[in-house]
Amino acid sequence: MTPELIKQALRNVRYPGFSRDIISFGLVKEVRCEAGSTQVDIEVQTKDPAIPEQIFKECHAALDELPDVGEVKINIDIKDAPTGAAEANTGKSSIPGVKRVVAVASGKGGVGKSTVASNLAIALAATGARVGLCDCDLYGPSIAMMFGSHERPSANERDEIIPINAHGLKLMSMGFLLEDRSPVIVRGPMATRYTQQFLRQVEWGELDYLILDLPPGTGDIQLTIVQTVAVDGVVIVTTPQEVALIDARKAVSMFAKVNVPIIGLIENMAWFECDHGTRYPLFGDAGGVREAERLNIPVLAQIPIEVPIREGGDQGKPIALNSIGTSNASLAFHQAAKSVIEAIPA
Ligand SMILES: Nc1ncnc2c1ncn2[C@@H]1O[C@H](COP(=O)(O)OP(=O)(O)OP(=O)(O)O)[C@@H](O)[C@H]1O
Ligand SMILES: [Mg+2]
Repeated sequence: MTPELIKQALRNVRYPGFSRDIISFGLVKEVRCEAGSTQVDIEVQTKDPAIPEQIFKECHAALDELPDVGEVKINIDIKDAPTGAAEANTGKSSIPGVKRVVAVASGKGGVGKSTVASNLAIALAATGARVGLCDCDLYGPSIAMMFGSHERPSANERDEIIPINAHGLKLMSMGFLLEDRSPVIVRGPMATRYTQQFLRQVEWGELDYLILDLPPGTGDIQLTIVQTVAVDGVVIVTTPQEVALIDARKAVSMFAKVNVPIIGLIENMAWFECDHGTRYPLFGDAGGVREAERLNIPVLAQIPIEVPIREGGDQGKPIALNSIGTSNASLAFHQAAKSVIEAIPA
């Protein structure tokens, strides 16, 4: 028996009330396999005594039947006050009815997060999944435009905002709530409150995937979102040049600190292909791919620069709506969606 096999078995133990397991939450601190015995050290931050009890029981259920484990000893250290990264996760709560939450993030602005979030959402929905897309960018919302929707959402009797339906997705964006193009001026705590409200006071209903289009950067808003919602994984978007990679690296380390798993990286604007088929790596050649290797995370897609991608975004018809045979970019988004589903099945 090896600690790796034990950890693998513990991936079946979910944190009570969450869809995520105790390994990805970072609660398992150490596993020791000795002759005739296996010891697991777990740290839980909670005031609810039922939680460590249930984890204890489920760990035994997952390990006792394994061959060659010997005597299984589960040590649970219950911490009351939050102290480190782990509490950021255990303080999270999931959004009722939503099975999986996937954030799309980048450090640098303008690298194509909203484009990726929109197309990924459409490609996920094309597999039959029920998908929602939430534009968390209060300052520069773009999802409303990318879906060509200017409808104003209404509220239900519980005062929840009813999302807009477009291309088979449920959409919510600050862009739906703004008076024509007026800039939003919200600062610090208010921004945090708005974001919270956005995620929780929306009538999402039953969803397999909720995609969050995060604003650029690695600041408070991004942290609040990932710390207060049970984000199952994040897709990092970058362009191939160094200035974008530096910020992508920062984003990856921010998510690692709060124990949000990285699903993978999408290199956007990877090249431009001219009519004669020659590829020009305008922002550098495969910088994103090399960075992913360095960070040891999967590459989900390389998306070329294509005029139809930009046009699709401006005209409310994301490219992934095109049949995949007619567009390499559309094909790449549909493949990336498959990788997301494999990484975190609903
Ligand atoms: N692969 C691509 N080919 C052509 N145009 C693209 C591509 N990716 C993105 N664009 C265009 O670049 C612009 C910026 O993209 P987008 O809004 O998705 O970036 P963003 O990272 O969400 O920006 P922000 O940081 O402001 O939120 C948009 O006009 C979009 O249509
Ligand atoms: Mg954006």
